[in-house]
Amino acid sequence: MTEAIDYARYDRIRPIRWNGESLELLDQRKLPFVEEYMRCAGSDAVAMAIRELVVRGAPAIGIAAAWGVVLAARTVEAADGAAAAAVLEPALQRLNAARPTAVNLAWALARMRAALLIAGDDWRAVLEREAQAIETEDLAANRRMGELGAALIAPGSGVLTHCNTGSLATAGFGTALGVIRAGVAQGRIGKVFADETRPWMQGSRLTVWELQQDGIDATLIADSAASHLLKNGEVEWVVVGADRICANGDVANKIGTYQLAISARFHGKKVMVVAPSSTVDMATPSGDAIEIEERDPGELLGVNGGRTVAEGVRAWNPVFDVTPAALIDAIVTEKGVVERPDAEAMRALFGG
Ligand code: MRU
Repeated sequence: MTEAIDYARYDRIRPIRWNGESLELLDQRKLPFVEEYMRCAGSDAVAMAIRELVVRGAPAIGIAAAWGVVLAARTVEAADGAAAAAVLEPALQRLNAARPTAVNLAWALARMRAALLIAGDDWRAVLEREAQAIETEDLAANRRMGELGAALIAPGSGVLTHCNTGSLATAGFGTALGVIRAGVAQGRIGKVFADETRPWMQGSRLTVWELQQDGIDATLIADSAASHLLKNGEVEWVVVGADRICANGDVANKIGTYQLAISARFHGKKVMVVAPSSTVDMATPSGDAIEIEERDPGELLGVNGGRTVAEGVRAWNPVFDVTPAALIDAIVTEKGVVERPDAEAMRALFGG
């Protein structure tokens, strides 16, 4: 029997708070040294917060956008949901345009739009219930994935994770970090390594901080130390999240995931991708069709506002990459696990 997970200990951080009037977002640009919530009173403030990484992580940006629609609704007078939908569409488009790669953003907005289109004169309440449902379902999915993913890990294993996939990136508990939390709680995971995740440093600024909050012992490594770690035998699984999972099992995730997967395969280690079904995009056939976000090259040219690179140097800053399905051993979702993913195995679980 697996040991029950003490969520009071392992699920305490909330990056998104709806207070009934406005949206409060834990400002992830300031972590780990300043814990401050930014208040958003309108949908354009939410779009800005998504664009600027105040809130980040695929599920979290979808949830924030859903609450953004609730805020946009405050400025609209309409007799029913269909009439409101027409007026709100530009605000939905602006939220959708905030970031291109994580499908959870478009997924959450499509859900809000669909709920609105069939709503009557209580359409404002319908929108608020839908946003709350998106958030609540994400938390439940994460807890389920924690159990399913941890069950794949042999007792005593070491794991390496990339980027931040924890509470900060979701409604709570996390995806890949949820599996790590569950695995530690159940005594399956012996050692946790997190890489820095240059250039935005989600690993060193967010992931190891989150683990520290839970009292989970973790070791930070430079991104460039990963192959050396995978070679020396302390890690059995690379456990990561996803921003979009295609119909053939290709996975877009934080830049650097692809090279980790290549290295893991070379060294006989396994790769687990953990993501809710809201990250699965059966309408995108393969990773080649995914738009990869490119951010300000300035992220590469300095640290903490101080420049570290000679003036005049050019930099290129794609922030996601695509790991081919062939390099992935398991995709864990709340609906079940796809082992050795390909188009047929994906269809078997997700249809379409
Ligand atoms: O640019 P970010 O920080 O939003 O990128 C986040 C990631 O790539 C995560 O791995 C992914 O969204 C999964 S989070 C549960």
